[in-house]
Amino acid sequence: MATDYVHGYATREAARLADQAATLTDLLHADTIYPPGSRVLEAGCGVGAQTVILTANSPDAEFTSIDISAESLAEARRKAPGVTFRQADIFALPFADDSFDHVFVCFVLEHLADPGAALAALRRVLRPGGSLTVIEGDHGSAYFHPDSARAREAVQCLVESQKRAGGDSLIGRRLYPLVRDAGFADVTVSPRMVYVDGSRPDLIEGFSRRTFTAMVEGVGAQAVGQGLMSEADWAAGVRDLYRTANADGTFCYTFFKAVALK
Ligand SMILES: C[S@@+](CC[C@H](N)C(=O)[O-])C[C@H]1O[C@@H](n2cnc3c(N)ncnc32)[C@H](O)[C@@H]1O
Repeated sequence: MATDYVHGYATREAARLADQAATLTDLLHADTIYPPGSRVLEAGCGVGAQTVILTANSPDAEFTSIDISAESLAEARRKAPGVTFRQADIFALPFADDSFDHVFVCFVLEHLADPGAALAALRRVLRPGGSLTVIEGDHGSAYFHPDSARAREAVQCLVESQKRAGGDSLIGRRLYPLVRDAGFADVTVSPRMVYVDGSRPDLIEGFSRRTFTAMVEGVGAQAVGQGLMSEADWAAGVRDLYRTANADGTFCYTFFKAVALK
């Protein structure tokens, strides 16, 4: 699974995830607070972008963060020294049943061929009454001004690339049935919309340019190589996406956050 991971593990990707995390902290994380002493499993922690936010918001909780990539874990360890990191596969978790009070997953399910099985595996290690929190995006929720057919097509290349790698970048809209069907109770999903215009330079830089458009740009060679778009159209699409970050442009994107109980 790790080698198919569509965004890759390059330094640029690490910087992109860090920018994204910083910009979206309040929108996505303000309501995730774990009590002192509670045992929290963060699954698919990557380079630790969310780990540092989680631990800052809940400094006295006991975090265990796992990822399948040793390289990403090495970076995460540097960022969050108080956390127990472990290389592990979500589908073969090295923990006993009911080991954790809370489970947190962010931007991971979209990359998995069987996200329902991943949720069921995570449910096993959660104690009865414990909480699951899942945050995912949905690339179909991106719309912008000025509109551009080529930009929309470039975004669709990202969706298609992720699909070919076995993932689903439109997963946000189906979090509710996924979590419910994995056996969780009291499922609540809240959409978290990012809206960017010329009055919000931090979001223009941190989200429109360095997060979303950089992500689309990142699959360019693959998309052109697979014949999804001509190189010229793809370049024009990416240019049009960057154009939405100008002072007169706007950009909208919706994340979905699910909270549920075992
Ligand atoms: C987009 S990154 C998200 C990282 C982090 N949660 C964040 O939001 O910054 C997805 C992560 O899931 C990890 N991953 C993918 N499949 C996995 C699996 N089967 N078990 C554990 N981690 C996995 C990847 O290695 C990658 O670090």
